Amino acid sequence: MARRTKIYEGKAKILYEGPEPGTIVQYFKDDATAFNAEKKDVIDGKGVLNNRLSEFFMTGLNNIGVPTHFLRRLNMREQLCRSCEIIPLEVIVRNYAAGSLSKRLGIKEGTPLPRPIVEYCYKDDKLGDPLVSEEHIAAFGWASQQDMDDIVSLALRVNDFMSGVMMAVGIRLVDFKIEIGRVYEGDFQRLVVADEISPDSCRLWDLKTGQKLDKDVFRRDLGSLTDAYAEVARRLGIIPEGNNGTGPVAVN
Ligand code: TMP
Repeated sequence: MARRTKIYEGKAKILYEGPEPGTIVQYFKDDATAFNAEKKDVIDGKGVLNNRLSEFFMTGLNNIGVPTHFLRRLNMREQLCRSCEIIPLEVIVRNYAAGSLSKRLGIKEGTPLPRPIVEYCYKDDKLGDPLVSEEHIAAFGWASQQDMDDIVSLALRVNDFMSGVMMAVGIRLVDFKIEIGRVYEGDFQRLVVADEISPDSCRLWDLKTGQKLDKDVFRRDLGSLTDAYAEVARRLGIIPEGNNGTGPVAVN
């Protein structure tokens, strides 16, 4: 079998050239990192769960007309996506105070915010993905004003969709991070939701108990990360009851 060309290896995924021009294959690894990779582990089955969860969220977004790079899942760990040029920003939407916002502004975790807050971090691991403002983004040319308007609109639509989907299964969407890509179609460019949407990139709290069902379980040593992700997948009907979602039986 021909060896595939690796385009990029990140902390949680590997990107390969896809089978047709304009496509890539996104491979989900089991590696978990936090605090800019200061904390690292390999968590059996995490990649399989995130592949399924990200497929579920991206498919839902495509179905309601929010464009994403996702085309289809190929197997337990891989999905076929449209290749795009990633805008070097992490776009964060927050509904409740948590994490770095709580630390920065001294707001107790779990405090509802008066309205969703959109933040941007400049994607640069060497700098630790620093928070930046629209002024920085415009001045350094990372995105145009039109791009920024489109990015905010995409981010808020993702927030509404994800909040509703999670609320329906008793989970609060506290905050999340997305990445945005540019897809070129002839002379035009279109922005799409890219990368992944999974419990690695969201904060998800059980509505009744407040139990954390996201990567904070790993960041803060709160128990089994795959148990938490499998719980989210079971509630969404992605994997059957009594299954941890990491074996072949979970894949249809
Ligand atoms: P923060 O509170 O640490 O800034 O995180 C906000 C949201 O962004 C949270 O849902 C976790 C997610 N996130 C990532 O996906 N990648 C990252 O590198 C960081 C720092 C946060």
